Amino acid sequence: MPQRAACWYGERMTPAQLARSTPQPATTPRSITILGATGSVGVSTVDLIKREPDRYRVEAVSARRNAAALAQIARDIGAQVAVVADPDCYNELKAALSGSGIEAAAGEGALVEAAQRPADWVMAAISGAAGLKSALAAIERGATVALANKECLVCAGALFMRCAASAGATVLPVDSEHNAVFQALGAGRREDVKRVILTASGGPFRTWTLEQIKAATPEQALRHPNWVMGPKITIDSATMMNKGLELIEAHHLFALKPDEIDVLVHPQSVIHGMVEFRDGSVVAQMGSPDMRTPIAHCLAWPRRIDAPAPRLDLAQVRELTFEEADTVRFPALALARQAMAAGGAAPTVLNAADEIAVAEFIAGRIGFQGIAALVEATLEAASGRGLLTEPGSLDAALGVDHIARSMALALLPEIALKSS
Ligand SMILES: NC(=O)c1ccc[n+]([C@@H]2O[C@H](COP(=O)([O-])OP(=O)(O)OC[C@H]3O[C@@H](n4cnc5c(N)ncnc54)[C@H](OP(=O)(O)O)[C@@H]3O)[C@@H](O)[C@H]2O)c1
Repeated sequence: MPQRAACWYGERMTPAQLARSTPQPATTPRSITILGATGSVGVSTVDLIKREPDRYRVEAVSARRNAAALAQIARDIGAQVAVVADPDCYNELKAALSGSGIEAAAGEGALVEAAQRPADWVMAAISGAAGLKSALAAIERGATVALANKECLVCAGALFMRCAASAGATVLPVDSEHNAVFQALGAGRREDVKRVILTASGGPFRTWTLEQIKAATPEQALRHPNWVMGPKITIDSATMMNKGLELIEAHHLFALKPDEIDVLVHPQSVIHGMVEFRDGSVVAQMGSPDMRTPIAHCLAWPRRIDAPAPRLDLAQVRELTFEEADTVRFPALALARQAMAAGGAAPTVLNAADEIAVAEFIAGRIGFQGIAALVEATLEAASGRGLLTEPGSLDAALGVDHIARSMALALLPEIALKSS
């Protein structure tokens, strides 16, 4: 039996070599688990499963509190077990699953156990650092993990990729930009890669002035021009923190130095990512902005399956345009780049502070500019307290995350005053 590869990136294999070394049962159904099944990525994954149910056997599905939607998904795709992270939702889940034969479970421990069940393929689509433990549990048993949860890599990227390599796990990038880069990397040898370019739509405020951006409301920030996504990533797209988190994600996934990763604003969201090789060739992946394409790529990899995303019609699109990212109007992008360059726990702190800041902005307690301001102030405070050394274990990473959240909350009144 061919040896199972770790990730392409760590092992310095091309995606094609990795594909050849990964055993692929041709006819038996693939066993899968979906963590974060009720979210935007989760529901898109469920949509693909429902189109070809015979291809899959579903081990587990999870949500945080949305018991009714989770029970419906579990019934629709015949999951063995459904898990809500919040124990208070257990009774509702149990009642909703009554008579189905599907096991109900609740709590953080049950979520990790769901990830440990013997599914070949796990979709890690919980949002935020809350997804780290369960994704790592799937990695540690050597599963193929389709990674949507970029916060895993931002929070504990070095640790996560080290665990993947030592467990022989395969990490497949779901994020459309990283999935594009993964596909484009197949065109050449790792040592011939010069740089990687992540495209960014620019979000809803791409053409707004700084003054207009300062007054942006949560409702305006939640209206993304091209993608339909969960609230956290949508706000992160508006501040461009999302692209910053993606820089850090690419740094770990593809073992790239910070200066080998560029961001290019491309408002049409047709080209998702590009790889430039040493001879000047630039290989790009394109497609309609629909997450079902990168999810289908991960679901079938190294094969391909049909996916229902609208076909890309370039004659209809007519124009592909590009512009530099503006870090004056979008300082979050610069903060993320600085955290990536600083390394250690700086990205962990950045992520924790951003999660607090986004929640506070959505709740109307800080202004839009307060998001980057809170992240910056938390990074400064964490640096002052000597908190930025590399977390060597999951507990250490979660410890830094916890302290950084408390620091961000303590800084909140001051930032709220300045940004409102
Ligand atoms: N949406 C996209 O198009 C997209 C694209 C690329 C990458 N991503 C990444 O994919 C991840 C998911 O994004 P999304 O937009 O799908 O998020 P979302 O719509 O907010 O869904 C999040 C999912 O995670 C669950 N969840 C939230 N907090 C949890 C917690 N503390 N413990 C356990 N489960 C929890 C939610 O359950 P409930 O429904 O019960 O709250 C839901 O199932 C994020 O890391 C995001 O950056 C998303």
